[in-house]
Amino acid sequence: DRSIKIAPSILSADFANFGQEIQAIEAQGADWVHVDVMDGHFVPNLTFGPAAVKAFRPHVKTVMDVHLMIAPVDPYIDAYAEAGADVLTAHVEAGPHIHRTLQAIRGAGMKAGVALNPGTPAEAVAHLLDLTDLICVMTVNPGFGGQKFIDMTSKVRALRQMIGDRPVHIEIDGGVDTTTAPLVAEAGADVLVAGSAVFRGGSVDTPQVYGDNIRNI
Ligand code: DX5
Ligand code: ZN
Repeated sequence: DRSIKIAPSILSADFANFGQEIQAIEAQGADWVHVDVMDGHFVPNLTFGPAAVKAFRPHVKTVMDVHLMIAPVDPYIDAYAEAGADVLTAHVEAGPHIHRTLQAIRGAGMKAGVALNPGTPAEAVAHLLDLTDLICVMTVNPGFGGQKFIDMTSKVRALRQMIGDRPVHIEIDGGVDTTTAPLVAEAGADVLVAGSAVFRGGSVDTPQVYGDNIRNI
């Protein structure tokens, strides 16, 4: 299914109200919910561990898309399966054995995603296409929401060509908004992560979602 799916990143949600925030974005038509896991080592920021992700699970009625920005990955795969991740994405840069990691993710019953930092070429996944359900093309250097979009449309086009008729999603993560979304969709992406374009800061007593904005992305 190559229809465009919007995956709000709860990295930009109100951290004291995840349940409400997830309900609000799903009520506004979010197709997937994107959860950014950071370890302060692979990326210079820290977010959620498996216990937090497990607590999100009952609130997510759609697809829980867990993006691991951690190294190593393999010791934690079972914990994120148990936490209820539907899609588990690991970075190709996170270790020497991404092939084994993708096999282990599928072996644990999840869809397997592989993410590419902006500096990593499309060819890095050439031998992984039959092991992966999703390729995440980072359009920022990972670690923080609200960064400026880096144009990776030529990488997206190259990947779409490599993928051919395999059932592999191309996800875009970083700086997606109403201006950049059409560019990446046209290049062949079908899952669009959006953090700061969907959420905004504000008072803590209401879900901080740009409700009318989400479908415009
Ligand atoms: C960045 C994360 C993204 C981030 C996107 O390291 O992987 O998912 O939340 O945020 P925006 O949409 O604000 O660039
Ligand atoms: Zn992400």
